[in-house]
Amino acid sequence: MHYFNYKNDKLYAEEVSVEELAETYGTPLYIYSHRTLVRHFNAYKDAFAKFPHIICFALKANPNLSILNIFRQLGGGADIVSGGELFRADKAHIPHEKIVYAGVGKTPKEIEYALKKDILMFNVESDQELEMINKIAQKLNLKARIALRVNPDVDPMTHPYISTGLKENKFGIPIESALEHYQFAATLKNIEIVGIHKHIGSQITDLSPYVNALERLLLLIEKLKENGINLKYLDIGGGLGIQYNEETPPTPAELINKILPMCNNLDITLIVEPGRSLVGNAGILVSRVLYTKKGAQEFFIVDAGMNDLMRPSLYKAYHSILPVAIKKRPLVIADIVGPICESGDFLCKKRKMPALFQGELIAVMSAGAYGASMSSNYNSRPMAAEIMVDGNKHYIVKERQTWDSLILGENVLTL
Ligand code: LLP
Repeated sequence: MHYFNYKNDKLYAEEVSVEELAETYGTPLYIYSHRTLVRHFNAYKDAFAKFPHIICFALKANPNLSILNIFRQLGGGADIVSGGELFRADKAHIPHEKIVYAGVGKTPKEIEYALKKDILMFNVESDQELEMINKIAQKLNLKARIALRVNPDVDPMTHPYISTGLKENKFGIPIESALEHYQFAATLKNIEIVGIHKHIGSQITDLSPYVNALERLLLLIEKLKENGINLKYLDIGGGLGIQYNEETPPTPAELINKILPMCNNLDITLIVEPGRSLVGNAGILVSRVLYTKKGAQEFFIVDAGMNDLMRPSLYKAYHSILPVAIKKRPLVIADIVGPICESGDFLCKKRKMPALFQGELIAVMSAGAYGASMSSNYNSRPMAAEIMVDGNKHYIVKERQTWDSLILGENVLTL
């Protein structure tokens, strides 16, 4: 569900014409819909109703400060995976008691920063990480709150690159030996055990793996209790899928309504870490056709490349691509490609679509998650501008990068 719709054959972001926005701000251009972001967040919030919970937005999906600020105003926290993400969460004034920190490779510097910020908890992924956190907490004369990230060995049935809860994945601690790891954590003086965490993968469109993984965790929570380890937080991770094409993912309400009855007799605060399902369909990437050409194959060459949206190149991910103005055109089979010097630089391949002409605009849909956040300067291309639409108003939330800023921090070495 989102607020990008056609009116009289022209695409609108809420009440504003996308064509007008492209004229004003240039292309490639990320456009976010404020109304969609609020609606998505409230879908989680309403579903939790009276159960104690924290909705920790996974910053990696889209760390734009204005987006963080919107979720903070609605009561959200943050799921972070780096010192840089903590810095951003801090800049957006996200309360530190609503920040959880995952990731297999937290550096000593990042751990120290997070301890000083007194975040809610570290989602710890190994014994060595536990020891490192303990050592740094001891130096600072603090106690570090931790959860163990448990790998439940469940197949999330998604793309292998974004599946995280199988035993062959690098994430978490194997569920079979989790008790021993908790017991080890309990021996460390500057560690306070407060929770348990899982995250099995992303773009999950079927609830059964989610439920299976949770069942395994609930059994473990029982076992921990029997061994005198009582937890305050159960972090169920993120991962809920969205519609890119013909998927029919469950809604946040369907997910939460399934989970709450399973947790009803636990005296625990639930944490959920949605990324994609909050921001994915709330953003589009608008791009202009630079050239068209036809050889053995029809190509529409646009001004957005794999550096702006990496998902099609990296995962062969499908994004719906719509004309910004609908025209009566014959259907063709074409590739929409970017300006980058790689054959892997495409937004779609062999897609049946109405023909495009030079100068026309396209909208790559569902680009709000893992779009701007995964963009790069490859081919020394400045990163796209990002704007937020709210009703009939629009605001720039990230300036288009300049050529000058491309070389910031570089020195010309003259030997
Ligand atoms: N929590 C943890 C510990 C995670 O690793 C992730 C995502 C999330 C929460 C949020 O998951 P979400 O609700 O967004 O599915 N670049 C890929 C997605 C990678 C996801 C990595 N972890 C893509 O473009 O599809």
